[in-house]
Amino acid sequence: MVELADDVPNIIACDESDNFKLSAERLEKAITKKTKAFLFCSPSNPTGLFYSKEELTAIAAVLKRHPHVFVISDDIYNRLTFDGSSVAPHLLHVAPELKERVIIVNGGSKAYSMTGWRIGWAVGPQKIIASMADYQSQTTGSASSIAQHALQKAIPSCENDIKQVNQTLIQRKIKAMAALSTIKEFKVTEPQGAFYLWVNIKQCLGRKFESMTIENDKMFCDILLQKYFVATVPGIECGNSGYLRLSFAISTDKFIAAVERMKTFVAALS
Ligand SMILES: Cc1ncc(COP(=O)(O)O)c(C=O)c1O
Repeated sequence: MVELADDVPNIIACDESDNFKLSAERLEKAITKKTKAFLFCSPSNPTGLFYSKEELTAIAAVLKRHPHVFVISDDIYNRLTFDGSSVAPHLLHVAPELKERVIIVNGGSKAYSMTGWRIGWAVGPQKIIASMADYQSQTTGSASSIAQHALQKAIPSCENDIKQVNQTLIQRKIKAMAALSTIKEFKVTEPQGAFYLWVNIKQCLGRKFESMTIENDKMFCDILLQKYFVATVPGIECGNSGYLRLSFAISTDKFIAAVERMKTFVAALS
């Protein structure tokens, strides 16, 4: 994972004499100015051993001396304990002040035996979680086993359904284009596939809504959402300002109701 992110992992060897656990001394020696994060797992895979409060306190002391180092705490096994406790000791139990640089990762795979459902989560400083969400939403998640079985069945047996879907979409497109043609400020590109309409709204920009000048498509879409409860995507999100993207993957009745609201909005522009 570290190499994929174009960085260099430093795997700290741990001895059997220490129960393969990382000592505070070894951690201290391994940290340099370039260290970005310390990846930590307790209880551990593969030993199943966890760190005591005393061991965690010593590790926390090292981390406090190196404020540039983030901690990625892999807590996936921490509810699976054999000593009667409900959770294994945790770095944040002994050093809650590290909270601003600890990112916890966990999931349903172990304690809930829900491995195939592919659900994990992360908890941490808002800024980091927001960046993770941006990255994740533009890369990929794993395919759940339930979804894979369903799709394996769907691919060979749904040809007629796809034809029917296309017929429905064609009808929706015709009705959606007709409804939008009643808003003269909009210029709509007729689509050849998918279920989107790309609408030029440049005639609406620079005009005023309740004393606010609509400067760009993002502002247009924000007002449409906040005041008229219609969700659209600003063109700038697709790389072109001055446009908006509509989806007609909804019933024609709903689409036409949304067009009526857009019409009211555009009519209110001065
Ligand atoms: C240390 C560790 N972290 C996290 C996971 C979580 O795996 P998953 O990808 O199923 O969420 C595993 C599973 O083997 C693991 O051993």
